[in-house]
Amino acid sequence: MSESKWHDLGPVEDFSGKPLQALHVGSKKLALTCRDGTFSAISGTCRHVGGPLGEGTLQGEYVTCPWHGWKYHCSTGLGEPGYEEDSVPRYDVEVRDGHLWVDLKPATKAGKSVHKKHALDRSIKREDGPVRVVGISTTAMNTDLPRYSTSDSLLETSLEHARDALGAETRLIKLNELSFRACEGYYSKAARACTWPCSITQMDSNDQMDQVYEALVFWADVVLVSTPIRWGVASSLYFKMAERLNCVQNQVTTHDRVMIRNKVASFIITGGQDNIQAVAGQLLLFFGELGF
Ligand code: FES
Repeated sequence: MSESKWHDLGPVEDFSGKPLQALHVGSKKLALTCRDGTFSAISGTCRHVGGPLGEGTLQGEYVTCPWHGWKYHCSTGLGEPGYEEDSVPRYDVEVRDGHLWVDLKPATKAGKSVHKKHALDRSIKREDGPVRVVGISTTAMNTDLPRYSTSDSLLETSLEHARDALGAETRLIKLNELSFRACEGYYSKAARACTWPCSITQMDSNDQMDQVYEALVFWADVVLVSTPIRWGVASSLYFKMAERLNCVQNQVTTHDRVMIRNKVASFIITGGQDNIQAVAGQLLLFFGELGF
């Protein structure tokens, strides 16, 4: 069994008054808390995907990870009630002669419960079969008051042609029939905080963006996106979807993993305004970044 490794952190007044702070001691990252004058320390690295716990918040007795909100008890390191097994090591802390000391030998071990893999968390394999075309409608027209949509009409005609004349399998996704959250900007916290599958998809089983991921990443060979032009740009639903696709592009940055290969993206853009070149250019650029 390894020996204790007590380390003098410095005068205690340097640490009091801050409910939560991140400490780096050698190679160790710690989350130090001070509640009612009592110090505690747990590992500073979240068991989810490595978020910096010391940069989170102290809510009651729990340290909340700033990336996706996992919680750990500030003095035991155990996960929040119901998730105790997802724990981080705790470290003994003492005040001696006005100095704060920490034992860098962990007092407990980390734990992680077995989490069922999300259905999207699998290898990408093209199953046998004919060419597959997914149409993605991004018009935000109110479905309660149906009207003729030029972009939808052209999309449906294109899919019909792909199916009937070319023998392709087709699928149609209408974004205005899906309930999905806007991107919450985890990437802005850290590149690794933007995960695959998307953190929102993993946390919220009601979020239906998984249908788009499934079609784009796994199923389709051809993606046909239709959008009206609104104030010189693509529709708001297009951008809502595009922002949620950050997690696909980000896999290249964080894991050198190109998720989209040997696929084609094409676009139907309709509108009475000018700026078609800019809209087409923007869509081409974005889908090119994804790997199409
Ligand atoms: S909740 Fe901590 S890294 Fe995701």
